[in-house]
Amino acid sequence: MAIISTYCKKGGVGKTTFIGYLAHYLTEVKKKTVLVISIDDQNSIFTLFGRQDLVTARNDDYLEYLMVGQRTFDEVLHEVRENLYLIKTLNTDALSTELITKRPTEKILFNIIDVYNENFDYVLLDFPPSSCRATEVLLDYSDRIILIISLDSMGIDGFINTIQFFVDQDIPISKIQYILPNKFIANRRAPKDSLQTLDKQAKEFSRTMGLNALILPYFSEKSTIQNIQTQGKTPFDKNEVFETRYDLTETLKVRKELLGIFKSVDEHEEKLSKKAAAQEQPQEKVVLNLKKKK
Ligand SMILES: Nc1ncnc2c1ncn2[C@@H]1O[C@H](COP(=O)(O)OP(=O)(O)OP(=O)(O)O)[C@@H](O)[C@H]1O
Ligand SMILES: [Mg+2]
Repeated sequence: MAIISTYCKKGGVGKTTFIGYLAHYLTEVKKKTVLVISIDDQNSIFTLFGRQDLVTARNDDYLEYLMVGQRTFDEVLHEVRENLYLIKTLNTDALSTELITKRPTEKILFNIIDVYNENFDYVLLDFPPSSCRATEVLLDYSDRIILIISLDSMGIDGFINTIQFFVDQDIPISKIQYILPNKFIANRRAPKDSLQTLDKQAKEFSRTMGLNALILPYFSEKSTIQNIQTQGKTPFDKNEVFETRYDLTETLKVRKELLGIFKSVDEHEEKLSKKAAAQEQPQEKVVLNLKKKK
C-alpha cells in the first residue's frame, strides 16, 4: 500500500531497470504483490521482463482505455511474473494535454491509482525522462521517490536539474527518500569522483533545500545487465532460466549487489515507520463530566 517512483530528468540513467528489479525483488523475495504502471509510452518495462509482445499484441488495453471506461481494472493488467503486473500507456504527451485541459482527468487518474493501491502491496511508477504534466502530477502523488543518478559528470547535472524541476513545480523535495548512484565502475577515476560530487551536492541540497534522502550503496555498471535484459530476464528470475553458466555466475553477482541495496531500503523503511509511529499523537480521551440533572 505505497506508491513508489523512480525518477531523473535525464534519460537512460536506469529508472526502468531499477524499478523493474525492485518490483521483481518485492514479489520474488518479499512475496508481495506489485503493479508497475508505465507512465512512459515507450513501455520499456515490458521489454525488461521479456514481454514486449504484450505492448503490440492489442491496441485497446492501455491505461487511457481504463480512464475513459472502455476497459475494466482487470483488463488492462498484464501479469509478467508471479504476482507482478504491468500497465502500459498509449501516449504520455496526449495524457498530459488531457490533464492540463480537462480538470476531471486528474481525479480520474488518482482514483484509478487509489483502487490499485488498495489491491496491491506496492504500486510502482516508471516515468519518462521528460518533464510533462503527467510526470508532475504523479510524482506529486507518489509516497516516495527514488532518484536515479548515473555516475558521470552529466549525471550530476541531471541531479541538479531534477532538484530544480521539483522546486519549479512545487513537488515536495521531502518525497525524495532515496538516491541511487548507478553505473559505478571500479578502477576508474571518473565514477569515483562523480560519487564524491554527488555526496557533496546532496549535502548542499539538504542544507539549502531540505533534501533528506538516503544515498543508497552504488549499483555497478555490468555488461551482464544489458545481456540478460536483451534476453528478457532479470536477476531475480530463477537460476534455471539462465542458459549459460557465464550468465548465471555474473547474474548472481548482480543479484547479490541488488540485495545489498534493497537491504538498505528495507532498513530505512523500518526506521521511517518507527518514526511515524512515535510521532503519532495519542488520541486524547474526551471524558465528559455530566452532572445529573435533577
Ligand atoms: N547498472 C547498469 N549496468 C549496465 N547497464 C545498465 C545499468 N543500469 C542501466 N543500464 C542500461 O542503461 C540503459 C538505460 O537503462 P534504462 O532504460 O533502465 O534507463 P531509463 O532511465 O529508464 O531510460 P529512459 O530515460 O529512456 O526511460 C539500458 O540499456 C540498460 O540496460
Ligand atoms: Mg525508462
